[in-house]
Amino acid sequence: MALSIRRAVATAAVIVVGAGSLAACGANDAQTDSADGDGAKKIALLLPESKTTRYEAFDRPLFEQKVAELCDDCEVVYFNADQDPAKQQQQVETAITEQVDVMVLDPVDGEAAAGLVTSSQDADIPVIAYDRFIAGSDYYMSFDNAQVGKLQAEALVEAVGGSGSILMLNGAPTDPNAGQFKEGAHSVLDSSDVEILAEYDNPDWSPENAQQWTTDQLGKFQPSEINGVYAANDGQAGGVVAALTGAGMARDALPPITGQDAELAAIQRIVAGEQYMTIYKPIKVEAEKAAEVAVDIANGEEITGTTDFEGVDSFIFDPIIVTQDNVGDTVVADEFYTVEEICAGAYADACQAAGLA
Ligand code: GAL
Repeated sequence: MALSIRRAVATAAVIVVGAGSLAACGANDAQTDSADGDGAKKIALLLPESKTTRYEAFDRPLFEQKVAELCDDCEVVYFNADQDPAKQQQQVETAITEQVDVMVLDPVDGEAAAGLVTSSQDADIPVIAYDRFIAGSDYYMSFDNAQVGKLQAEALVEAVGGSGSILMLNGAPTDPNAGQFKEGAHSVLDSSDVEILAEYDNPDWSPENAQQWTTDQLGKFQPSEINGVYAANDGQAGGVVAALTGAGMARDALPPITGQDAELAAIQRIVAGEQYMTIYKPIKVEAEKAAEVAVDIANGEEITGTTDFEGVDSFIFDPIIVTQDNVGDTVVADEFYTVEEICAGAYADACQAAGLA
């Protein structure tokens, strides 16, 4: 991930950990990235977890970079909740105590976060719901999540030839996006001739749970009965591949498996024919819009160009489908990854065969 490495080097000089009034070490430790150290305006960024690579590798650095570019006297106070809603609540409380000017919150638990929004607004701190919807928030930005589910399911139905039986792994029920992906996917699957053998709502999106659940299903169904697997994201797709190969299935004989997030490992599996597709969400667009809106709020400027989503002023972006055919035209063209990153080591031959290197 060229971006994260470049960014890590760039921020090393300006990062201040546990600075000034921030509390000493603890579960809700914040990291402050200040453009000039003055910190006249504070923007809190609260992300939900780190097992999905997007958050630490893209959302955070892209957001911090854009804030630094737009505002000399803004500092970003950063938190990651590690998938723990109680930890996220403490982090919100810390941000309120820190008297941040605005909060950019990607909730672990979307419903519970409505209470966090109220506490924050009571302290005159507006909240931007980032990527996952929170009722009552001041602004919301995300991709069209129902469309993500539809694109995944349409691709899978086509890949299995219109009919057959599949396993279905959805995201965490506490994540509002997961419900939208699932609904979008069901709208396609339920009106097709594809049968769902078994379905699972993964409580924390983890690859480990996905692997264990798939392994359990292999005790109930013959591998030959599994014509395809709907996995709502790439982390879970990785768990599915580990389960199937762990049970003795050859890497070149895996059924079509879906994903989301265009994680590097998933793009490599797609090139190698081990995963059928993923969804690329140009995180740069989302993270930079969040940074722009946060800076405008901190500077007391008006926000324009929003659309309504469930009563909240929103920005909704389009997801992009990635299969072996368009890796070059999507994630490579967008400089999300370089060909060298994708084609490193064991993937060199697969890249050649797929015409990428
Ligand atoms: C969703 C998000 C996805 C993926 C997933 C797992 O809410 O939109 O991009 O990261 O969570 O954390």
